[in-house]
Amino acid sequence: MPSVTLITGGLGFVGSHFVWAAAREGRDVVVLDDGSAGTSPELPEGVEVVRGDIGDRATVGSLIRRRGVDAIVHFAGKIQVGESVTNPALYFDVNVVRALALLEEARVAEVPRILFSSTAAVYGEPEAVPIPEDAPKRPVNPYGASKLTFEHALEAYGRAYGLRWAALRYFNAAGADPSGKLREAHDPETHLIPLMLDAGLGRRPPLTLFGEDYPTRDGTCERDYIHVVDLASAHLKALDRLAAGHAVGPLNLGTGQGSTVREMVDEAERVLGRAVPRSVGPRRAGDPSSLVADPRRAEEVLGWKAQRSDLPTLLEDALRSRT
Ligand code: UFG
Repeated sequence: MPSVTLITGGLGFVGSHFVWAAAREGRDVVVLDDGSAGTSPELPEGVEVVRGDIGDRATVGSLIRRRGVDAIVHFAGKIQVGESVTNPALYFDVNVVRALALLEEARVAEVPRILFSSTAAVYGEPEAVPIPEDAPKRPVNPYGASKLTFEHALEAYGRAYGLRWAALRYFNAAGADPSGKLREAHDPETHLIPLMLDAGLGRRPPLTLFGEDYPTRDGTCERDYIHVVDLASAHLKALDRLAAGHAVGPLNLGTGQGSTVREMVDEAERVLGRAVPRSVGPRRAGDPSSLVADPRRAEEVLGWKAQRSDLPTLLEDALRSRT
């Protein structure tokens, strides 16, 4: 029987890129999304989009049965670190309670495999970088805690019920489809790359660099930026691995190379061909100084490596999507 993949959160930034990547390979997908991201990206023709909540078991169950879903890629969730601190109830509700309803309905409907969109935030403030998957998991905010809780559920379901799962821990998802038709857009926007490019384009106020007294090579925070197209290709490979009957478990998706905020701004200025207006402000609460992936397990298990995540390509793609 042909495989059908249910994509939750397929209208979001990473989800919509995955929908395109899957459709370009001729895979059969169906999207479940409640529209809460407030974005309506163009999706490939013919892809069914069901408006609904992952926690609504009747909707999820009937969709799985009607379409014969045999794999789930679960992107839907709340993703803002700061909001998770002020409104943890929302984060535990959506990322844990509702996600567990989805998982349980998947079990009842005998869906054999699930791919979960996890995050480097599960590690909290790392003891050392680059960070391997078995580094201590001590999230420092409810966002990271909620994602880790769902990973624990997957692990337990795997052991008890034979569910095959992967938790893909993204470092900093960035870039955009080279066609320019999909873009990173959050409301409110808090991410460095859209804020910095828009500041350079004169569409937003000057960028504030959050702190310059971190123990990094230039005092600004270091992150591992991974192109969303590279994330999408890792998901396809992970799905295939699960379909072939293998366990996958947690995998870091990153490049293994960190860039500081200043390095990002310098490269943005080069790509834009103009200055990015900016000032230096205080640190932002909850920002670890350095988050860099050790991506070797993903490379070994999936035979995957980031291809478009070098800074010039990543920023050029991001810029094309904003102009
Ligand atoms: N930054 C600024 N000014 C801004 C915005 C960001 O200096 O206006 C800095 C931040 O302090 C940070 C870096 O740019 O050092 C990147 O910040 P982002 O907000 O773009 O991304 P984060 O690293 O905070 O968060 C991302 C994801 C989270 C995930 C986290 C850890 O958005 O979901 O990585 O993996 F939890």
